[in-house]
Order: sequence, then C-alpha cells, then structure tokens
Amino acid sequence: MLELEKDIIDYVLFTQEQLEVKIKELSIWVNKTYKNSKNLIVIGLLKGSFPFFAQLIKSIDIDIIIDFMTVSSYGGGTSNDGSVKIILDLANDIVDKDVLVVEDIIDTGKTMQKVSNLLKSRNPKSFRVLTLLNKPSNRKVSFEPDKFGFEIKKDQFVVGFGFDWEEKLRQLPYIGVIKKEIIAK
Ligand code: IMP
Ligand code: MG
Repeated sequence: MLELEKDIIDYVLFTQEQLEVKIKELSIWVNKTYKNSKNLIVIGLLKGSFPFFAQLIKSIDIDIIIDFMTVSSYGGGTSNDGSVKIILDLANDIVDKDVLVVEDIIDTGKTMQKVSNLLKSRNPKSFRVLTLLNKPSNRKVSFEPDKFGFEIKKDQFVVGFGFDWEEKLRQLPYIGVIKKEIIAK
C-alpha cells in the first residue's frame, strides 16, 4: 500500500470489479449509440480519464479514431475557480465527425462547458459527452453529460483510477474517497 493512500483515503467507493462491470455497460452504450457511425472519434480528456478511456475502448466494436486533449482546472486544490486552460489540443480535425468526449468526472461543469463550446465550434457531425462519474449536486453552470457511469455526492472528493490528489494516487486500481479533514486543510 502507498503511504499517501493509507494517510488520506477514508473508504473505497468503487472497487476494481465494480468499475469493470460499469465500464462494460458504458461500452455497450457506445456500441449502440454509434452503431451506424462511419466516422467516430473518441476523445479522452487528460490526465484523469486515461484508465477509464483505456478500459472503455477495449470493448468498443466499431471502427474509431482516438485522440486526446489536456485541459487544466483547479490550481491543485479541490474546487474549480473557473479558470480552464487548454494545454494540449487535438491532433485530429473533427469537422463532420461524430465526436465522443470521455471525461473522468463532471463536477461544477465548468471544464466540460468550456471544452464542449470549443469543440462544437469546429463543426462536428455530432457531439456527446460520456463521463465515468457525475456530481450533479455541485454544478455551478448548467451542463449535463449524455451518459455517466456513477453519480456521487457533493462531499465525496475521490482519488484513484485516474483521479488525483495533488497529482498523486492516479495509479490506484479502485476509486476511494478522501478523508474530510484532508480536504478542509
Ligand atoms: P469541473 O470543471 O468542476 O466539472 O471539474 C472537472 C475536473 O475537476 C475533472 O475533470 C477532474 O479532473 C477534477 N475533479 C473534480 N472532482 C474531482 C474529485 O473528486 N477528485 C479528483 N479530481 C476531481
Ligand atoms: Mg479532468
């Protein structure tokens, strides 16, 4: 066990097995939704979505192109002050393509609102957002994903399976909730 893991995790929210089952379900949704698509591009938002993304695409049974974008929010803490920066843009053109953005979590909604406005302005054929976690009780702007895996509560700050605490713990195979006293600091 990692030292930081022992120190800051309160409890396991989703085990590796629960994540596997849910992500299988989500890839079935992708296969159904895009069954007739000729030009699907699946875009992962780095860094948080990469374990989810990697697992999801293994069960996608239609031809896809993958691409990534890095956006930053949250200057290292646990609340989004609204500043969202594009650090790495897509390598591919998305004009007339079916675009599916894969995100780790939609919390205040500020990140996805910005990304979604930017990508829609490039005239894709269609645009959808799939997020592993959804925290609707903390929305600051109106944004709803087309599909999500699990809904979590406002007071649950999560780490593991791509989610970080000060850039650490992303490698955990499960999702855990951080102790309240850590967040309060
Ligand atoms: P939003 O702009 O507030 O919706 O924030 C979205 C981004 O904040 C996500 O892509 C995550 O990178 C990060 N984030 C939000 N909640 C959590 C959390 O509970 N743990 C780790 N990162 C989080
Ligand atoms: Mg993120």
